[in-house]
Amino acid sequence: MNVLHIRDLTVRYSVGKKQIRAVEDLNLSVKKGRFVGVVGESGSGKSTLAHTIMRLLPKNAGIIKGKIELFGQDIISMSDDELAKIRWKEFSMVFQRSMNALSPVHKVGVQMSEALTIHDPQMNEEKIRERLESLLSMVNLPVRVLDCYPHQLSGGMMQRVMIALALVNSPKFVILDEATTALDVVTQGQIIEELKILIQKFSLTGMVISHDLGVVAELCDDLAVMYAGRLMEYGNKDEVINKPLHPYTRALVSSLPELSERGGRLYSIPGNLPDLSCEINGCVFANRCQFASDECFKMTPLTVGFENRYVSCLKVGNESCKSCR
Ligand SMILES: Nc1ncnc2c1ncn2[C@@H]1O[C@H](COP(=O)(O)OP(=O)(O)O)[C@@H](O)[C@H]1O
Ligand SMILES: [Mg+2]
Repeated sequence: MNVLHIRDLTVRYSVGKKQIRAVEDLNLSVKKGRFVGVVGESGSGKSTLAHTIMRLLPKNAGIIKGKIELFGQDIISMSDDELAKIRWKEFSMVFQRSMNALSPVHKVGVQMSEALTIHDPQMNEEKIRERLESLLSMVNLPVRVLDCYPHQLSGGMMQRVMIALALVNSPKFVILDEATTALDVVTQGQIIEELKILIQKFSLTGMVISHDLGVVAELCDDLAVMYAGRLMEYGNKDEVINKPLHPYTRALVSSLPELSERGGRLYSIPGNLPDLSCEINGCVFANRCQFASDECFKMTPLTVGFENRYVSCLKVGNESCKSCR
């Protein structure tokens, strides 16, 4: 059963007279109990996708077309009142820069209690305390954190508070957007281990987003690769990593020390993301792709199902081009 189902999603930002094509024609489904990793270099549209699902886009963003169903409910056309009943309760998110999400003038405990009572006003003090203490212990934080102000916490502690806060109302779908990016490697590793346990314990379905394939690979079952607002490849994590079909995925995998062959040279993809304010003819990756031919600069590849995978590349599945497989 699909918990999340996204069809033909296109999201653009208006900046002056320009339109930034942040997400284009994106199709993606997440099955119950699965965690999808969304990976792609910075500027690929990953956070825009997350904010669209949460209906937390800034004012200059517009959903041009598409549909998002979460637990069978149409998120895009839902009224604000309907949305307020389920956002943070049925689905929630840990933000990329979550340090700024807490109010600096209120203690952590007060802010966490508020998040709880907004959806359950009847909850008594004792129950609240119990729930917060159990959540804190799950993210390896001492109870005294409840009496701290945000500035008194380290980056790792703060991020753990944000994870606890996202889980406070027992949501069943959670998005983690670069949830460990700002942390040192040791803390990052610890939090990833804690997240693995939490995902299991709460039978969460969700999305883990990072520009770092190594981080995403630790937590996800399936892998979605985004580039310049488009889905390049999507499939089972191990299959995608062991046998990437899209040239961009292949480049990403070979740029990762743990995943590329031992002793092999790390690959870095030459070139930059295209200018998203211009309409791009053909494949968005063509100008950086070593396998691109004339047709790649003319025809936009559709996302097609191939070998248990979804791939957006004119060459994949095309017998005439064995050189790129
Ligand atoms: N509020 C905004 N206004 C204008 N452009 C934006 C805004 N937020 C993001 N963008 C642009 O949209 C594109 C996708 O950004 P984003 O979704 O943040 O990518 P990612 O999370 O993969 O780094 C980028 O070109 C970015 O500059
Ligand atoms: Mg982002």
